[in-house]
Amino acid sequence: MCQAPLFSCPAIDTTAATLVKTILALETSCDETGVAVLRDRELLASEVASQVAAHEKFGGIVPEIASRNHLAYAPRLLDRTISAAKIDVSRVDAFAATSGPGLASSLMIGASIAKGLAIGFGKLYLAINHLEGHLLSPFFVGADGDEQIRPNVSLIVSGGHTMSVRVRGLADYQLIGRTVDDAAGEAFDKVAKMLGLGYPGGPEIEKHARGGDPNRFDLPRSMLASDNFSFSGLKTSVRYLLPKIEEQRVTQTPCNLDEGVLTDLCASFQQAIIDVLMTKTIAAAERYQADLVTISGGVSCNQELRRQLHEACSRKGFELKNAEPWLCTDNAAMIAFAALLRLQAGFQSQVAEEIDPNLALV
Ligand code: KG4
Ligand code: ZN
Repeated sequence: MCQAPLFSCPAIDTTAATLVKTILALETSCDETGVAVLRDRELLASEVASQVAAHEKFGGIVPEIASRNHLAYAPRLLDRTISAAKIDVSRVDAFAATSGPGLASSLMIGASIAKGLAIGFGKLYLAINHLEGHLLSPFFVGADGDEQIRPNVSLIVSGGHTMSVRVRGLADYQLIGRTVDDAAGEAFDKVAKMLGLGYPGGPEIEKHARGGDPNRFDLPRSMLASDNFSFSGLKTSVRYLLPKIEEQRVTQTPCNLDEGVLTDLCASFQQAIIDVLMTKTIAAAERYQADLVTISGGVSCNQELRRQLHEACSRKGFELKNAEPWLCTDNAAMIAFAALLRLQAGFQSQVAEEIDPNLALV
């Protein structure tokens, strides 16, 4: 097989890198189609087309449906984002896309569009790791901010990943721990499905947990002494608990639980996840003597997790940074931001670079 790249992007030197201004990025790693335009740190436009409705009835993502929808949404979204940003696309300095990890048939769509634009306009292409997009998102504070990436201990909690990372600087990461089975968001989604609640499960459980007693059900906090995470035992405990607490009569709730019992169960489940995430994050921050803790990914939208982690960090003297909720779930703004920082640091990608569904962060 021919090893030579089919196309190559224009060479970039460090001087040119510091002049790079406008990035157009696409995010299509899973079930959200995202396009964003960033000019330096100013976000000119960011659009996300959610596919929740298309996957909801299956209780999870169907890859074939996801890629068909990306194919339908991406060109329209591209058009809309470029108009909203009021830019001439030929003036974009670099095109970026998520190149992994994610669903192969979904990743291909965003990456192919970004590569096509880079080739067509003779501009730079950047392949961005989705997890790096999440990881750096707490530093994205908009046009007025110019904060550089500071050393921190970072927790990435999404539907596909749960990992704790020691960040020394841009592109200098050390894995502390990761889940050995389900991701935290996946546990939220699976338990919500068991309870007959909607998809995605995290926001549903959070909503039903409000006002509930988090101590009513004794659910496990697995592998607390390890750097790694495990959530499948917690999910199984809920499965075994359900038949014991379900009402015989048909009630108003989707899972035959009395409303108060459902609320307490959601609160107890949510608290079990929060306890595990908090304990490990604080322990890692202490071990690495971090001044700063960051949290990102869809699960970090959870208000109770944010509140409790904030309190725990304040008690220990750590600063906590979390992205705005709209930046926590999948979006292209975080991909554009990671691309901007990488370009400014002199990184670039070849358009021949392939997507990698299992792309590792470290
Ligand atoms: O980062 P994200 O949008 O996609 C992945 O990269 O996976 O995360 C989606 C995950 C889903 O599992 C969803 O249930 C969870 O984030 N999630 C939440 C909340 N909002 C989204 N989990 C707990 N509480 C929330 N409020
Ligand atoms: Zn994500």
